[in-house]
Amino acid sequence: MDFSLTEEHLMIRDAARDFAQTELLPGVIERDDKQTFPQELVRKMGELGFMGIMVDPKYGGSGMDTISYVLIMEELSKIDASASVMVSVNNSLVCYGLEAYGTEEQKQKYLTKLATGEQIGAFCLSEPEAGSDATSQATTAIDKGDHYVINGTKNWITNGGRSDVYLVIAQTDREKGHRGINAFIVEKGMPGFDIGPKEDKLGIRGSDTHTLQFNDVKVPKENRIGEDGFGFKFAMKTLSGGRIGIAAQALGIASGAYELALKYSKERKAFGTEICNHQAIAFKLADMYTEIEAARMLVMKAAWQKDKGENYDMASAMAKLYASKVAMEQTVEAVQIHGGNGFVKEYHVERLMRDAKITQIYEGTSEIQKIVISRGVIKG
Ligand code: CAA
Repeated sequence: MDFSLTEEHLMIRDAARDFAQTELLPGVIERDDKQTFPQELVRKMGELGFMGIMVDPKYGGSGMDTISYVLIMEELSKIDASASVMVSVNNSLVCYGLEAYGTEEQKQKYLTKLATGEQIGAFCLSEPEAGSDATSQATTAIDKGDHYVINGTKNWITNGGRSDVYLVIAQTDREKGHRGINAFIVEKGMPGFDIGPKEDKLGIRGSDTHTLQFNDVKVPKENRIGEDGFGFKFAMKTLSGGRIGIAAQALGIASGAYELALKYSKERKAFGTEICNHQAIAFKLADMYTEIEAARMLVMKAAWQKDKGENYDMASAMAKLYASKVAMEQTVEAVQIHGGNGFVKEYHVERLMRDAKITQIYEGTSEIQKIVISRGVIKG
């Protein structure tokens, strides 16, 4: 066993840290307040190779491993979880999905632009009545010979308004249940495809979350991903990797809040000494550090298993379940350590606390992760 990072990993982590400090930190409070995320920052993340981290360089990607992806996600998320979810969805749901299961034509046409950040992608599975129960897709795609016609509504779609490419999951044959589900590549601007208003959210307010409407959207048959009926498995396999990205995001939110709390506790004085010298605060720091390290081990192990070509369904579910719990609990502690200042926006920890909550919900709620883990445990 070797827990150390390579020189290359350390360089990648430092590059992500520098970018987060110099480019994401200025303006993060305003972006959260106004619910905006500038295109310019996406372009810069593309230039750094953050939009196609694990994609083969022959398709414009950075060709890095999943450990590097986790390191980048953690550093970005310490500062701006709205930016990092954009990176996570583009990388592990859209780019990975296309690279692993798309045709060569689909990769040339779409992946090459998505991996460089020239275009952004969205993953459209959730619906008003099908969030956790993903097989109950109400959105339909009817086979018309050389094309499909898609009708339905998708909800809470990350990158929903600003994407160029949308991977849409829809029911093609209700009789067949999950085997009658397919995934399609839909382009922005296709007739009948409408983007609804942006959601006003508790956290990750800079990320672009929308409802999408599909009214008789004609999608060419060559835009279906995989064999007929592969859509549900496509979604499950893609989400398994996505959960490593969200687990890394949760880890970053927690460690970002912890670092702020540690620094604050060494500066703020009460009862004649820095508050870190009071056991009440010192023990909080000890618990925070321990919990975050435990989460890091699970996230890194899931990434390592993926890089080794092992099955990582359970590992990614455990990493997300635990890291998101740690993010929620430890951001609350970070606010507590900051006292009254923790409740004020300029100290950043209240935003991290709000951002933490979504990591227990999207890409499978904590309860869904427990279904995946318990089924794995029982199956053996
Ligand atoms: N890999 C491959 N196949 C898988 C799989 C996986 N990880 N998980 C399940 N399958 C297969 C099963 O083997 C089964 O196939 P067979 O019948 O051929 O054996 C089929 O898929 C159906 O599986 P289940 O019977 O287990 O299906 P289920 O209805 O019980 O649901 C579930 C399983 C785990 C609860 C699943 O529905 C699920 O993960 N739900 C949560 C969905 C989710 O994560 N939504 C998040 C939205 S995306 C998002 O948030 C993106 C964003 O913008 C941030």
